[in-house]
Amino acid sequence: MAVAQTTTIFFPAIIIVLFSSSIVAHTSDDVGGKPKAADFVTEACKNATANYYKEIHLTEKFCVSTLRSDNRSSKAKDLRDLALIGVDILKARVVTANGKVQEMLHKAKTGTSMARRLTFCKLDYDVTVSITNVCTALLKDYRGPDDGDNDGPPSFMLPQCVQQVNTLSGYCGHELLDLSELQALFNENIDMSMLAHLNMALLAPYRDNDS
Ligand SMILES: *[C@@H]1O[C@H](CO)[C@@H](O)[C@H](O)[C@H]1NC(C)=O
Ligand SMILES: *[C@@H]1O[C@H](CO)[C@@H](O)[C@H](O)[C@H]1NC(C)=O
Repeated sequence: MAVAQTTTIFFPAIIIVLFSSSIVAHTSDDVGGKPKAADFVTEACKNATANYYKEIHLTEKFCVSTLRSDNRSSKAKDLRDLALIGVDILKARVVTANGKVQEMLHKAKTGTSMARRLTFCKLDYDVTVSITNVCTALLKDYRGPDDGDNDGPPSFMLPQCVQQVNTLSGYCGHELLDLSELQALFNENIDMSMLAHLNMALLAPYRDNDS
């Protein structure tokens, strides 16, 4: 995606760590999905969090409770199904945060640092929402690895897309860092980042799925 090339200049520290190494995971044996649906969520969360960057502190408990909050998780057959849920949850949070930013922007005095930062966040969240829509479309169009014939997206694009969501919302987080009035929004941003990490972790096995 074009965004990947153009946005690498000013990274918040939280994000940089993501690019410092790549996750190596193998999915060759995750085909025989016979366990019950509820167990699938638990198992997927166990795998996803066990192999994820330790410094992010993504927990199995958070993964399970997040995905179970959407009743579609009981019907999920694969990691793609779970990521579709995760991306929807993330999108809803970004939309809500964007609404709050909009509200605060109305109250902020024009020309102040506060107004500038909020304007930036608004822009950032607008794009972030669009990217979540792109990720949802990619996930829905995915037909499996090596799918040149059917024109589905390559596997690596799925985790890459949700990584973009995290990168973008991180820019806003950076703007919020040192203004105490924006603390609540900053915390909200951290929660959203954790949700983005959850999706990246769920989709990590898709990174190496193409060769
Ligand atoms: C979890 O990992 C194990 C070991 O690699 C694998 O056999 C299993 O299919 C994975 N489960 C899910 C739900 O991804
Ligand atoms: C999930 O809950 C909604 C109502 O909240 C219901 O309409 C829907 O059929 C449920 N879906 C599943 C998969 O259970």
